[in-house]
Amino acid sequence: MNKIIIAIDGFSSCGKSTLAKQLANTLNYVFVDTGAMYRAITLYFLRNNINTNNSLQINEALKQIQLSFKFNADKGFSDMYLNNENVETIIRDLPVTQNVSSVSTLKEVREFAVLQQQQMGKQKGIVMDGRDIGTTVFPQAELKIFVTANIDVRVERRYKELVLTNPTITKEAIKQNLLERDNIDSNRAISPLKKADDAIVLDNSLLTREEQLAIALNWAKEKIGE
Ligand code: DC
Repeated sequence: MNKIIIAIDGFSSCGKSTLAKQLANTLNYVFVDTGAMYRAITLYFLRNNINTNNSLQINEALKQIQLSFKFNADKGFSDMYLNNENVETIIRDLPVTQNVSSVSTLKEVREFAVLQQQQMGKQKGIVMDGRDIGTTVFPQAELKIFVTANIDVRVERRYKELVLTNPTITKEAIKQNLLERDNIDSNRAISPLKKADDAIVLDNSLLTREEQLAIALNWAKEKIGE
């Protein structure tokens, strides 16, 4: 069957990864969470006190970083590995979350990540989610979806996730972090978050996961059939 590339972009905590995972599972495609790659790089930078104003240090650090995804059969999707350590949980914690947007603005970091992402898409049959997939990583993707949701809906969803491990977290703190990341991601100089001209907007504020999947699956099937 005709395999395609599906690029899913959008703001933080809009349900992009949920949609990307569901689509990949249904279509039997590979799912790649590019945010996890930027998070793993950020974790390495934090652990090793990398000075992000020093290009030489950044390049030396990137040479030491090996990123890989390994399938986790219990969860049904892949975990992120940094130099063979499973970092899937720790990269979702606050220190990384608070620093990942600024690390993601760095030219060296973006070149490093984008090259690997493009390699992963060579065989097609892939669903990749991030901020610049439809604009920079795969401008030729057959299907591009730009996911959006109302900010209060996003805060509510994120709160439900985070409160399980961090009972003192407040909705206000989450809102501030999301708005700050939106701002940095949308206004950075290299590959800012931006809807590709040929992307379809999917506002899921009022949709269930199942409804969202059904809509996106129809779009994918149209493209696969073409
Ligand atoms: O999808 P996420 O929230 O896990 O992404 C974390 C950060 O990584 C996000 O704030 C910006 C950055 N990112 C990026 O710059 N480009 C991507 N393709 C994916 C994520």
